[in-house]
Amino acid sequence: MSTATDVASQRRNFLPVPLHTLCLTGTLPVDIYLGQEKESAPVLFRRRHIDIAGDELSTLLESGIETVYVPREQAEDYQNHLQNNVVSIIANHDLPLTDRLQFLGDTGRSMLREVFQGGQLDETIKQVGELSTYMSTIISENEVVVSELFDVLRHDYHTYTHVYNVASYSLLLAKGLGVSDEKELRDISMGGLLHDLGKLRIPLRILNKKERLTDTEWAIIQRHPTDGFIDLAVRDDMTEAQLMMVYQHHEKLDGSGYPVGIGGNELHFYAKVCAVVDIFEALTSNRPYRNPATKNEAMEILEGLTPNKLDQEMVQCWKALTIQ
Ligand SMILES: [Fe+2]
Repeated sequence: MSTATDVASQRRNFLPVPLHTLCLTGTLPVDIYLGQEKESAPVLFRRRHIDIAGDELSTLLESGIETVYVPREQAEDYQNHLQNNVVSIIANHDLPLTDRLQFLGDTGRSMLREVFQGGQLDETIKQVGELSTYMSTIISENEVVVSELFDVLRHDYHTYTHVYNVASYSLLLAKGLGVSDEKELRDISMGGLLHDLGKLRIPLRILNKKERLTDTEWAIIQRHPTDGFIDLAVRDDMTEAQLMMVYQHHEKLDGSGYPVGIGGNELHFYAKVCAVVDIFEALTSNRPYRNPATKNEAMEILEGLTPNKLDQEMVQCWKALTIQ
């Protein structure tokens, strides 16, 4: 009989993937396992290259199964499968927009989780660049409503989830403020995906700590904009707007932010965009020490931070977009 430790180590050999993602693509190049029982190892449901019928998927979804499992040694095949399909899926106007946004979200978070774990900056930039193209394309070509996007996003505050959400919101807010140039939108998306790059150096025990942070731990947290900026500023493929989203997203108009404490006109337009949606995303996400705020509660808090800390026009624009 398997012990709990055996089961835990067997489960670590599997990658959890959203079942919904599989509904939109054809034959899968990976084995699919079911693993709803946390106290036992996942069991094989379908071998790779054998179709799962539409009614089988519906039955699984109806029974409340949202996550299935892929063996970790097939993670690259799974990733390639998503990326091979993402362009055609986001461009398929026969599919509901929310399905396409959900597929892109699943693909994006999966890409980010892999490259953030891999820790190779060149590969991270390459993948983030590709993902930014997909994200800016779907948002510039469609009327994406914040509340619809909000409902298909995850709100678990993993760094890969948080940056995906912040990049999506930054795109929508920039578009709401009148930005329409495709290259500019792609740059903003990329800046949003990279804005917390420096957080990858912070130990999870500090990032997820429920209790009040010590002064030392708070100092470690406050280093992340500078750490991310230093890593990216030496490259020749980052724009100033992207670098400022990374470096200045915790600065405030009245100079009370970090890491430098600059404010007013010294803050880059896109850093101010990022600051607004970064706080909104943090407030509306599940954290170890509190429940998420509703969109309305988060908006009230953002409005309370104007005009001294956040740009009033941007917060009002974001408010108008979130109540649509
Ligand atoms: Fe941050």
